[in-house]
Amino acid sequence: MTPDEMKKLVAQAALEYTKGHAVLGIGTGSTVNHLIDFLADVKGDIEGAVSSSVMTTERLKKVGIPVLDLNDTGPLEVYIDGADEVNPHFQMLKGGGGALTREKIIGAASRQFICIADESKAVDVLGKFPLPVEVIPMSRSYVARELVKLGGQPVWRENVVTDNGNVILDVHNLTILNPKEMEQTINNIPGVITNGLFAWRPADVVLLGGPNGVRKLEK
Ligand code: A5P
Repeated sequence: MTPDEMKKLVAQAALEYTKGHAVLGIGTGSTVNHLIDFLADVKGDIEGAVSSSVMTTERLKKVGIPVLDLNDTGPLEVYIDGADEVNPHFQMLKGGGGALTREKIIGAASRQFICIADESKAVDVLGKFPLPVEVIPMSRSYVARELVKLGGQPVWRENVVTDNGNVILDVHNLTILNPKEMEQTINNIPGVITNGLFAWRPADVVLLGGPNGVRKLEK
Protein backbone atom coordinates (compact mmCIF):
# COMPACT_ATOMS: atom_id res chain seq x y z
CA MET A 1 0.00 0.00 0.00
CA THR A 2 1.40 3.42 -0.96
CA PRO A 3 1.46 6.36 1.51
CA ASP A 4 -1.22 8.04 -0.58
CA GLU A 5 -3.47 4.98 -0.36
CA MET A 6 -3.02 5.06 3.43
CA LYS A 7 -3.97 8.74 3.46
CA LYS A 8 -7.09 7.95 1.46
CA LEU A 9 -8.04 5.15 3.83
CA VAL A 10 -7.68 7.33 6.91
CA ALA A 11 -9.57 10.20 5.27
CA GLN A 12 -12.48 7.87 4.62
CA ALA A 13 -12.44 6.73 8.24
CA ALA A 14 -12.74 10.36 9.35
CA LEU A 15 -16.17 10.62 7.72
CA GLU A 16 -17.59 9.04 10.87
CA TYR A 17 -16.67 12.22 12.78
CA THR A 18 -18.47 14.51 10.35
CA LYS A 19 -21.89 12.96 10.91
CA GLY A 20 -24.51 15.16 12.53
CA HIS A 21 -22.47 18.36 12.13
CA ALA A 22 -23.71 21.18 9.93
CA VAL A 23 -20.39 23.04 9.97
CA LEU A 24 -16.95 21.43 9.89
CA GLY A 25 -13.47 22.83 10.35
CA ILE A 26 -11.24 21.59 7.55
CA GLY A 27 -7.44 21.52 7.56
CA THR A 28 -4.91 21.55 4.75
CA GLY A 29 -2.82 18.98 2.93
CA SER A 30 -2.95 15.88 0.79
CA THR A 31 -4.74 13.78 3.44
CA VAL A 32 -7.42 16.41 3.93
CA ASN A 33 -7.79 16.70 0.16
CA HIS A 34 -8.94 13.09 0.13
CA LEU A 35 -11.42 13.90 2.89
CA ILE A 36 -12.86 16.79 0.87
CA ASP A 37 -13.32 14.46 -2.09
CA PHE A 38 -15.20 11.98 0.13
CA LEU A 39 -17.32 14.79 1.58
CA ALA A 40 -18.25 15.82 -1.95
CA ASP A 41 -19.75 12.37 -2.46
CA VAL A 42 -21.66 12.09 0.83
CA LYS A 43 -22.42 15.75 1.68
CA GLY A 44 -24.83 14.50 4.39
CA ASP A 45 -25.65 17.08 7.04
CA ILE A 46 -22.97 19.54 5.93
CA GLU A 47 -24.06 23.10 5.32
CA GLY A 48 -20.57 24.55 5.12
CA ALA A 49 -16.99 24.45 6.28
CA VAL A 50 -14.45 26.78 7.84
CA SER A 51 -11.26 26.50 5.81
CA SER A 52 -7.66 26.68 7.02
CA SER A 53 -6.10 27.83 3.74
CA VAL A 54 -6.67 29.25 0.30
CA MET A 55 -5.86 25.81 -1.13
CA THR A 56 -8.56 24.12 0.95
CA THR A 57 -11.03 26.91 0.21
CA GLU A 58 -10.59 26.40 -3.52
CA ARG A 59 -11.04 22.65 -3.22
CA LEU A 60 -14.14 22.97 -1.03
CA LYS A 61 -15.72 25.43 -3.44
CA LYS A 62 -14.91 23.20 -6.39
CA VAL A 63 -16.91 20.34 -4.89
CA GLY A 64 -19.79 22.62 -3.90
CA ILE A 65 -19.23 22.94 -0.14
CA PRO A 66 -19.84 26.54 0.99
CA VAL A 67 -16.93 28.15 2.84
CA LEU A 68 -17.87 30.02 6.00
CA ASP A 69 -16.15 32.70 8.07
CA LEU A 70 -15.10 31.59 11.57
CA ASN A 71 -16.28 34.97 12.85
CA ASP A 72 -19.81 34.07 11.78
CA THR A 73 -19.93 30.42 12.87
CA GLY A 74 -18.75 30.71 16.47
CA PRO A 75 -17.09 27.66 18.08
CA LEU A 76 -16.99 24.53 15.93
CA GLU A 77 -17.81 21.00 17.04
CA VAL A 78 -15.13 19.29 15.00
CA TYR A 79 -11.92 20.14 13.17
CA ILE A 80 -10.21 17.55 10.97
CA ASP A 81 -6.62 17.99 9.81
CA GLY A 82 -3.44 16.14 8.92
CA ALA A 83 -0.06 16.36 10.62
CA ASP A 84 3.61 16.07 9.75
CA GLU A 85 4.33 14.31 13.04
CA VAL A 86 2.23 13.16 15.99
CA ASN A 87 3.58 11.86 19.30
CA PRO A 88 2.03 9.45 21.84
CA HIS A 89 0.52 12.43 23.73
CA PHE A 90 -1.38 13.46 20.56
CA GLN A 91 0.80 16.57 20.28
CA MET A 92 1.54 17.41 16.68
CA LEU A 93 4.09 19.13 14.48
CA LYS A 94 2.33 20.75 11.55
CA GLY A 95 2.77 23.38 8.86
CA GLY A 96 4.58 21.48 6.13
CA GLY A 97 2.01 22.99 3.79
CA GLY A 98 2.49 26.44 5.30
CA ALA A 99 -1.03 26.75 6.71
CA LEU A 100 -0.08 26.44 10.39
CA THR A 101 -1.49 29.73 11.68
CA ARG A 102 -5.03 29.30 10.39
CA GLU A 103 -4.88 25.62 11.34
CA LYS A 104 -3.99 26.57 14.89
CA ILE A 105 -6.78 29.13 15.08
CA ILE A 106 -9.46 26.70 13.90
CA GLY A 107 -8.08 23.91 16.08
CA ALA A 108 -8.29 26.19 19.10
CA ALA A 109 -11.84 27.23 18.22
CA SER A 110 -13.04 23.63 17.91
CA ARG A 111 -14.33 21.26 20.56
CA GLN A 112 -12.81 18.17 18.95
CA PHE A 113 -9.60 17.94 16.92
CA ILE A 114 -9.37 14.84 14.75
CA CYS A 115 -5.87 14.21 13.41
CA ILE A 116 -5.72 12.06 10.28
CA ALA A 117 -2.40 10.75 9.01
CA ASP A 118 -0.63 7.81 7.49
CA GLU A 119 1.21 5.77 10.11
CA SER A 120 4.64 7.11 9.06
CA LYS A 121 3.71 10.34 10.87
CA ALA A 122 3.61 8.67 14.30
CA VAL A 123 6.82 9.42 16.23
CA ASP A 124 8.02 9.19 19.83
CA VAL A 125 9.75 12.58 19.84
CA LEU A 126 8.75 15.56 17.67
CA GLY A 127 11.34 17.46 15.65
CA LYS A 128 12.78 15.23 12.97
CA PHE A 129 10.51 17.01 10.50
CA PRO A 130 11.72 20.64 10.31
CA LEU A 131 9.53 22.85 12.49
CA PRO A 132 7.79 25.60 10.47
CA VAL A 133 7.65 29.05 12.04
CA GLU A 134 5.55 31.79 10.40
CA VAL A 135 7.14 35.22 10.85
CA ILE A 136 6.50 38.83 9.84
CA PRO A 137 8.81 39.46 6.84
CA MET A 138 10.89 42.25 8.46
CA SER A 139 11.67 40.03 11.48
CA ARG A 140 13.03 37.10 9.44
CA SER A 141 16.77 37.47 10.18
CA TYR A 142 16.26 38.46 13.80
CA VAL A 143 13.97 35.49 14.48
CA ALA A 144 16.39 33.18 12.67
CA ARG A 145 19.20 34.26 15.01
CA GLU A 146 17.00 33.64 18.05
CA LEU A 147 16.09 30.17 16.74
CA VAL A 148 19.80 29.34 16.40
CA LYS A 149 20.17 30.20 20.11
CA LEU A 150 17.53 27.54 20.82
CA GLY A 151 19.68 24.96 19.06
CA GLY A 152 17.88 24.90 15.72
CA GLN A 153 19.01 25.50 12.17
CA PRO A 154 16.44 27.77 10.54
CA VAL A 155 16.08 27.69 6.77
CA TRP A 156 14.04 30.37 5.00
CA ARG A 157 11.36 28.78 2.79
CA GLU A 158 12.23 31.05 -0.11
CA ASN A 159 9.59 32.07 -2.65
CA VAL A 160 6.81 31.13 -0.23
CA VAL A 161 4.41 33.75 1.10
CA THR A 162 1.76 32.46 3.48
CA ASP A 163 -1.96 33.12 3.05
CA ASN A 164 -1.45 35.82 5.70
CA GLY A 165 1.33 37.60 3.76
CA ASN A 166 4.17 36.33 5.94
CA VAL A 167 7.23 34.11 5.46
CA ILE A 168 8.24 30.74 6.89
CA LEU A 169 11.43 29.56 8.57
CA ASP A 170 11.79 25.77 8.72
CA VAL A 171 13.83 24.86 11.78
CA HIS A 172 16.00 21.78 11.38
CA ASN A 173 17.80 19.70 14.01
CA LEU A 174 15.45 20.27 16.94
CA THR A 175 14.86 17.40 19.33
CA ILE A 176 11.71 18.58 21.02
CA LEU A 177 11.60 16.86 24.38
CA ASN A 178 9.25 19.43 25.92
CA PRO A 179 6.84 20.51 23.14
CA LYS A 180 4.77 22.83 25.37
CA GLU A 181 7.83 24.76 26.49
CA MET A 182 9.25 24.96 22.95
CA GLU A 183 5.91 26.11 21.50
CA GLN A 184 5.67 28.89 24.06
CA THR A 185 9.34 29.93 23.84
CA ILE A 186 9.27 30.30 20.05
CA ASN A 187 5.94 32.11 20.09
CA ASN A 188 7.43 34.65 22.50
CA ILE A 189 10.05 35.81 19.98
CA PRO A 190 8.96 39.20 18.59
CA GLY A 191 8.00 38.82 14.94
CA VAL A 192 6.76 35.24 15.25
CA ILE A 193 3.11 34.77 14.33
CA THR A 194 3.10 31.15 15.46
CA ASN A 195 5.02 27.91 15.11
CA GLY A 196 3.90 24.49 13.97
CA LEU A 197 3.86 22.83 17.39
CA PHE A 198 0.39 21.87 18.53
CA ALA A 199 1.30 20.96 22.10
CA TRP A 200 -1.07 23.15 24.12
CA ARG A 201 -3.90 22.14 21.84
CA PRO A 202 -3.17 18.49 20.95
CA ALA A 203 -5.54 16.28 18.99
CA ASP A 204 -8.42 14.55 20.76
CA VAL A 205 -8.51 11.62 18.36
CA VAL A 206 -5.70 10.34 16.14
CA LEU A 207 -6.52 8.14 13.17
CA LEU A 208 -3.50 6.42 11.60
CA GLY A 209 -3.78 4.70 8.24
CA GLY A 210 -1.57 1.71 7.57
CA PRO A 211 -1.43 -1.41 5.39
CA ASN A 212 -3.62 -3.27 7.88
CA GLY A 213 -6.29 -0.61 8.09
CA VAL A 214 -6.95 2.39 10.33
CA ARG A 215 -5.79 2.54 13.93
CA LYS A 216 -7.96 4.75 16.11
CA LEU A 217 -6.32 6.34 19.17
CA GLU A 218 -8.52 8.12 21.69
CA LYS A 219 -7.72 9.74 25.01
C1 A5P B 1 -0.36 22.02 6.40
O1 A5P B 1 0.19 23.23 6.69
C2 A5P B 1 0.11 20.95 7.34
O2 A5P B 1 -0.04 21.26 8.68
C3 A5P B 1 -0.53 19.63 7.02
O3 A5P B 1 -1.57 19.34 7.88
C4 A5P B 1 0.49 18.59 7.12
O4 A5P B 1 1.62 19.02 6.38
C5 A5P B 1 0.02 17.24 6.60
O5 A5P B 1 0.04 17.20 5.23
P1 A5P B 1 -0.27 15.89 4.39
O6 A5P B 1 -1.66 15.50 4.69
O7 A5P B 1 -0.09 16.35 2.97
O8 A5P B 1 0.73 14.86 4.79
